[in-house]
Amino acid sequence: MARRILVTSALPNANGPIHLGHMLEHIQTDIWVRFQRMRGHEVYYVCADDTHGTATMLRAEQEGISEEQLVTQMRIDHLQDFNGFLVNYDNYHSTHSEENKFFAELIYQRLQERDLIFTEEVEQLYDPDKKLFLADRFVIGECPRCAQPDQYGDNCENCSATYNAVELKNPKSVYSGTTPILKKSEHYFFDLAQYTDFLKEWVRTEAVQPEIANKLSEWLEDGLRAWDISRDAPYFGFAIPGTTDKYFYVWLDAPIGYMGSFKHYCDNTNHVTFDDFWAPDNHTEVHHFIGKDIINFHALFWPAVLDGADFRQPTRLHVHGFITVNGTKMSKSRGTFILAKDYLSHLDPEYLRYYYAAKSRGSADDIDINMEDFVQRVNSDLVGKVVNIASRCAGFITKHFDGKLAAALDNEKLWNSFVTASSSIADYYEADDTSKAVREISALADAANQYIAQHEPWNLIKDPDQKDKVQLVCTQAINLFRLLVIYLKPILPAMAVKAETFLQVDPLNWENHKAPLLGHKLAKFKPMLTRIEMKQVDKMLAASAPSAASDTVLSTAQAQGTQPAEQGQYINIDDFTKVQLKVAKIIAAEPVEGADKLLQLTLDVGDHQRQVFSGIKQAYDADQLVGRLTVVVANLAPRKMRFGVSEGMVLAAGPGGEDIFLLSADDGAVAGMDVK
Ligand code: 2FM
Ligand code: ZN
Repeated sequence: MARRILVTSALPNANGPIHLGHMLEHIQTDIWVRFQRMRGHEVYYVCADDTHGTATMLRAEQEGISEEQLVTQMRIDHLQDFNGFLVNYDNYHSTHSEENKFFAELIYQRLQERDLIFTEEVEQLYDPDKKLFLADRFVIGECPRCAQPDQYGDNCENCSATYNAVELKNPKSVYSGTTPILKKSEHYFFDLAQYTDFLKEWVRTEAVQPEIANKLSEWLEDGLRAWDISRDAPYFGFAIPGTTDKYFYVWLDAPIGYMGSFKHYCDNTNHVTFDDFWAPDNHTEVHHFIGKDIINFHALFWPAVLDGADFRQPTRLHVHGFITVNGTKMSKSRGTFILAKDYLSHLDPEYLRYYYAAKSRGSADDIDINMEDFVQRVNSDLVGKVVNIASRCAGFITKHFDGKLAAALDNEKLWNSFVTASSSIADYYEADDTSKAVREISALADAANQYIAQHEPWNLIKDPDQKDKVQLVCTQAINLFRLLVIYLKPILPAMAVKAETFLQVDPLNWENHKAPLLGHKLAKFKPMLTRIEMKQVDKMLAASAPSAASDTVLSTAQAQGTQPAEQGQYINIDDFTKVQLKVAKIIAAEPVEGADKLLQLTLDVGDHQRQVFSGIKQAYDADQLVGRLTVVVANLAPRKMRFGVSEGMVLAAGPGGEDIFLLSADDGAVAGMDVK
């Protein structure tokens, strides 16, 4: 029986660009959605930009535009990136919408009617310089539970504790670096504690993966506190009805954005009714794909708010882990913070879809992108094994049989083994374990290639008596290829369309795996997916690499602390004394082939020499540098770059581009300096 399924990906923040971390989730969701559609289910996939909150206000202020202008432009940019990766939403909306406002107010009103809202005066951190209450993400300090430094005001990346910003030890405003003061204000709370028993039961339902339920149970055992759902003006968001200077906290209306987007879709298409999916006790399904960092919002607050407002519960949370690149967290300074648009300028989206699918196991474990592994898997497993099956056999059918397949298969047993595999592959898709699905499909591709190698149609064709056999062998191989295309179609939708054009068939669905294509005319074969060239990857990495300005230059704004730094932001004096700064003499400097911005420097640091790659080529000719002194971070861990290992970092100053200045003795700045 056809299932009725509503699916969401977490709503990306409207204050920043889409990167490969977002893409993991949206690709995973899109694959699951496409799979369910191929199985004949009724599926709606919605998303939106998450627009509200202080970060949006700040970004708009920095850019000198209104918040509305910012979120409108961001939504267009985000959608373009997602479309570029073939993510196919039914609707991509915005939380700054009429529909979202309607549901946020309705939910709030129902919660009030059920006595689930109360107000209380709270003392909050306030930046006296900026005249703002500090949003959780704009104050950093030490985790109140595990003492990890540089944690945001809402939760700890180290121990996952959630807390109030006022509980942070040694807090600092990210805006100004000043120590915030405490200021009183009245806040609105959702009485989450009333939901303790409800949630203890809910997290143990099939909606939640057991590993996630275990984590949630720990929090539940610690006891639930009321959830602060209001923020003081100035705030970009929806005003709380009946107040003039209080707004819904962005995390209240963000998940409501799932409803808002779906409502917008319902109103604009008339395909489906909102209540079919959101009224309590119905037989439809709601699936949320989310990262493990936001499980508290989706597995505690959200089910409770939904119940309190008389809406249905999510059917299942699909929780994934983070993306790492070469084993470490994505980082701008390491050049591994890869934006979706930079990827798309250089590489085919289906390579990444395939790679992510090959690594996704339906768990919250982190997923590592390793560039060599990426290239190897795509080139040998996908292009080499799967796509080549068709290219190896299509020519014979076109040239010798007028493009027509034989009327029978050559090897029924082999065919049947491919058909039978559909059931386990489908189970893997259902469970988000596309890694196992890809592995099984790859094993089938091996079997198909062995079959071709065994029959050698390129030799058979030389013998006129074997001509019919060639048609049978190629018909068999192309039918095996067709099943692989069906099984891979959720992951590789564009390749599937090219295969459908070659096979001259209607869009393939899952049912089509049951019967072979016989006596059927094929179109002329055209390549469907080509190998990745390493230079494409290099170009993408170069585009993501920090510019000379951000890599080597301490800009004036950063030096003065006027710009919130990238993440975490202030180091204390103990951290600073760990940085070993040494004066070094540049004894050789050479351009680096294939790098526009880099020079390879050989540095004499007193007792030994070392090699450093530095992004200062636009500012200095290599020859000019020899003999100069510079300051180098001497104890920076060696970094493997494409061109070799860089053993340190040269410090420079200036706005960037051609204007970067080494602090050399010639400039009169650091002679004789040796700081430790
Ligand atoms: O973590 C984030 O990026 C949030 N913008 C996700 C919101 S998901 C949903 F609740 F809206
Ligand atoms: Zn902690």
